[in-house]
Amino acid sequence: MRFITSIFLASLAVAAPVDLEARQFGGGLFGGGGLGGGAGGCAEVIFMFARGSTEPPTMGILIGPPLERALERQIPSLKTVGINYDAAIMDNVSRGGTTAKQINTATQAFNQQMSQCPDAIFVASGYSQGAALMHRTIEKMPQAQKDRIAAVVLYGDTQNQEDNGQIPNFPREKVKIFCNASDGVCGRSLTVNAGHLSYSGDIQPGAQFLAQGVQRLKQGGGVSSSGSTASTSGSLGGLGSGGLGSLFGGSSGGFGGIFGRRS
Ligand SMILES: *[C@@H]1O[C@H](CO)[C@@H](O)[C@H](O)[C@H]1NC(C)=O
Ligand SMILES: *[C@@H]1O[C@H](CO)[C@@H](O)[C@H](O)[C@H]1NC(C)=O
Repeated sequence: MRFITSIFLASLAVAAPVDLEARQFGGGLFGGGGLGGGAGGCAEVIFMFARGSTEPPTMGILIGPPLERALERQIPSLKTVGINYDAAIMDNVSRGGTTAKQINTATQAFNQQMSQCPDAIFVASGYSQGAALMHRTIEKMPQAQKDRIAAVVLYGDTQNQEDNGQIPNFPREKVKIFCNASDGVCGRSLTVNAGHLSYSGDIQPGAQFLAQGVQRLKQGGGVSSSGSTASTSGSLGGLGSGGLGSLFGGSSGGFGGIFGRRS
């Protein structure tokens, strides 16, 4: 346990200073999910991200911020939205990997962005419970919304085995799942081990896959506005919640939670 914790803290120490600097104005670590153009803005491509259990809102630490930076280098007009779901430690044990409340939050976030930005192409990613959240949210979207999602990359996916390495009712070729063979959560166990923290080498390939998906969708004629979806008044919520307080052990019990509960 101590071993894993120190790996994690080491990666936190490396990740945090860069992130603090990069996100100061954009949101990201501070809860805005990197809404660079302002929460109301649009971009050609919108990146929806869901963090892992106990990671700080809204982008988390291990996957969200580095993936956003890698994606920004490939897609000049990018808006990032960190979905502000609870990422609570117990919710991952629910059937499907997360709860109805979290799925509702994510669904509203997609609805809001898709109606507010009817010409945008979407890419999505999730880590751990955040990956489960993407399975459960995307599988039940109306077809017109699914068509606007160019690609999805999932890391340490707790629903990998349950869903046969894909998102149900969604094109297999649009999804790439990064699951280290030694990562217990990828094979029905929810136990967090070193393999669950091993994805730093998969950030760049993930960004590449998302960017290629965007290219493919554009070549195929892009997004038709007629596919735009029912608008909801759902708010993304929580802009500005999080912050350093939660980074160091706020509401969700801090990182001790994820690593201290191994069963
Ligand atoms: C899921 O929740 C359990 C129980 O709280 C916890 O032990 C485990 O680390 C969690 N796993 C993930 C991947 O969040
Ligand atoms: C998988 O995780 C282990 C740690 O458990 C790590 O040593 C290994 O490099 C990882 N493999 C890949 C391909 O990331």
